[in-house]
Amino acid sequence: GDYSGQYRPQIHFSPPQGFMNDPNGMFLDDNGTYHLYYQYNPTDTIAGNQHWGHATSRDLYTWTNQPIALSPSNSTSFIFSGSAVLDPNNTSGLFLNQTNGILAYYTLSGPTQQTQNLAYSLDNGYTFTKYAHNPLIAIGSPQYRDPKVLWYAPGNHWVMVVSYAQEFTIEILTSPNGLTWSFASNFSHHGLLGTQYECPNLVEMPMQGSDETMWLLYISINPGAPLGGSIGQYFPGRFNGTHFSPVDHAARIADWGKDNYASQFFSNIPGNQNQVSIAWASNWHYANYVPTGPAEGWASAMSLPRVNYLRNATRTGYTLVSLPYRLEGLRGGEAVASSDDLGSNGTLFADLEGGSGAFMVDVNVTGLNVSGLSNTASVNFTIMASGSGEVIGGGIFLGGDATMWIDRGGIQGWNNIYNADKFSTAYVLEDAFDFQVVVDRSIIEVFGLEGEKSATLVYYPEALLDTVVVRTSGLNEGASVTANVYSLEGTWP
Ligand code: FRU
Repeated sequence: GDYSGQYRPQIHFSPPQGFMNDPNGMFLDDNGTYHLYYQYNPTDTIAGNQHWGHATSRDLYTWTNQPIALSPSNSTSFIFSGSAVLDPNNTSGLFLNQTNGILAYYTLSGPTQQTQNLAYSLDNGYTFTKYAHNPLIAIGSPQYRDPKVLWYAPGNHWVMVVSYAQEFTIEILTSPNGLTWSFASNFSHHGLLGTQYECPNLVEMPMQGSDETMWLLYISINPGAPLGGSIGQYFPGRFNGTHFSPVDHAARIADWGKDNYASQFFSNIPGNQNQVSIAWASNWHYANYVPTGPAEGWASAMSLPRVNYLRNATRTGYTLVSLPYRLEGLRGGEAVASSDDLGSNGTLFADLEGGSGAFMVDVNVTGLNVSGLSNTASVNFTIMASGSGEVIGGGIFLGGDATMWIDRGGIQGWNNIYNADKFSTAYVLEDAFDFQVVVDRSIIEVFGLEGEKSATLVYYPEALLDTVVVRTSGLNEGASVTANVYSLEGTWP
């Protein structure tokens, strides 16, 4: 693949060529290498002809493209999304004298039905053999897919969550050996429905400030998201090995942008650590109509890798916190521009011309007098292309209900008739808040309130975004604002 094109992300994963959608089968192997598989059409830049592409990384930023891991056996059945786990105790009996056998579960989408299937790997996930007795689960449904498997240690058994997509039902199954599966329970009609449930994840989550864990059921819906197309939602709750009980009846949206879908959590992340996830940074609304295909021969990137945990947040209760995974490691060095106090009405300007096209902006506000703020108070950023005048605007209006917003409507290079250009979310303000913005040629991600509020958006400008302005206005006396802009080193050759 050629990773030099003007739309090509420099710190995010994108496929060498062709079309990519969901992350699949992500696991950390016993040598400390992360494996990312993905829905892949190697022969075109639109969706179809699904394989599992494969890439590996030690740090989740520097990726090595690997040969395709799973290919369909004929032209009418495709390898849809799924997951992978280590089978260290050889419960499956497929591994002789090894503790690092890999079980990969995928949906085979055929002309009449979608079935759950197994492939296994003896070499840490580089090559796979399809199980001789596939399918593992076949119920005759044409809309039954995306198995995500985990080991439930207290019960000494495997658990699978899988979607009856058009019945808005996540089925939970259990298995002693990963081969034979029994129905345990259904989780139906919760939260936003859209028109299909897809790509469920069930994951044990650390709780901020506590030794306890909670469980998270994460469900992607498509189409029919509030902003159009696809979106991810999640349910914090309890899991007893067979049944998931949400803490309440709320619908919680994972990302307030439009380009964070089919998020998957890595398996085999060591216990009690923050969970790590990656999402597909696109939206079925327009994924087949992005300009990267015709211009550069590839379509779709993945989101930043994220660390995740739960926080019991002010007013909203259990909230998924997502922050970029160890992004500091990519900072070239000192900040390109920096202010240790922008004051109530200040401006910071950063010129990133000649950089990789990847950079980040870090803003921290303290000393806010929330009840005394004027209704013009704001902390905003503008990301500009000096070559074309295009802009992405964003920031936070503090007057009234505090609102974080982002607007990609000032980008010319993409005639995107599907797009709602403005996005916003509400902040529950205390006397301090923060946000981080990560920009990478055709993807922007915003993380606010120490990770409670994240947004992922793609955009396709005519010229590289290479200038940042951060501006405070109308803040109270005593408010203090630090702002730093860092260039990020590209990880692709
Ligand atoms: C989600 C999805 C999955 C399916 C895959 C096919 O984006 O529709 O439900 O397995 O994509 O590529």
